[in-house]
Amino acid sequence: MGKHIIVSGATGNLGKVVAGKLISLGYGLHINLRNTTKAGDFDPAFVSTYEADLTKPEQAEAFAANAVAKAGRIDAAVLLAGGFAPGKLEATTLQDIEKMISMNFLTAFNLIKPLKAHFEENGGGQFILVGARPALVPDQGAGSFAYALSKSLLFQTADVINAESKKSNISASVVVPSIIDTPDNREAMPGSDFTKWISPKDMAESIAFILSETGSKMKETVLKLYHQA
Ligand SMILES: NC(=O)c1ccc[n+]([C@@H]2O[C@H](COP(=O)([O-])OP(=O)(O)OC[C@H]3O[C@@H](n4cnc5c(N)ncnc54)[C@H](OP(=O)(O)O)[C@@H]3O)[C@@H](O)[C@H]2O)c1
Repeated sequence: MGKHIIVSGATGNLGKVVAGKLISLGYGLHINLRNTTKAGDFDPAFVSTYEADLTKPEQAEAFAANAVAKAGRIDAAVLLAGGFAPGKLEATTLQDIEKMISMNFLTAFNLIKPLKAHFEENGGGQFILVGARPALVPDQGAGSFAYALSKSLLFQTADVINAESKKSNISASVVVPSIIDTPDNREAMPGSDFTKWISPKDMAESIAFILSETGSKMKETVLKLYHQA
């Protein structure tokens, strides 16, 4: 088996396709589930499952530690867990901000913390985070203030990891979709031209490239997968 990779959000619309692509490349995956009834969706020959709500630091740390114990070494973390909520700044409550930061930032941070130490002790590793265009383009973020704010923290986290890791073999990349062509988005925006959205398959191919031998040499990568949306 090739590299061992932690994937969060593997049960989601994007995560399922990314997991399928990485399995096809021979990687061993370690994924967290919030509900173990979903374990049957994954072939145990390629995927090890662990129960963890990643907003809880102790559960995320146990997940990372158990994955390391099982694999011996984790080479990369593809952190896809997250979620969206609309809402303009004037309508945003403290609760809305806490919810988005918890879902989009803490689910990543709580794994990055133990894994960065693991990567440092083991000669390196890759983090791949999923950002969002509203965090980069203010016009796009106007209607989803808390979401944009929470995703912007991931870009800053990647910057800090990269700044701290200049002399080591650790890197953080951010992939930035526009609108992913998922069943949920089709249902939410039925009149849209779906061909202009970015497909989960294209997202998965890009993530696979970042994990490849060539891709792992890229530094400070921010991949904008906007397609025509
Ligand atoms: N869809 C888009 O157009 C779009 C655009 C820009 C960025 N993104 C980002 O891309 C990522 C994937 O999007 P998606 O459309 O695939 O979303 P999705 O279908 O809603 O999947 C979200 C995933 O995150 C997991 N998750 C959420 N909260 C968690 C927690 N507390 N602990 C552990 N896992 C948790 C979910 O697990 P459960 O199965 O247990 O719920 C699920 O696997 C997200 O970060 C999203 O913000 C999406």
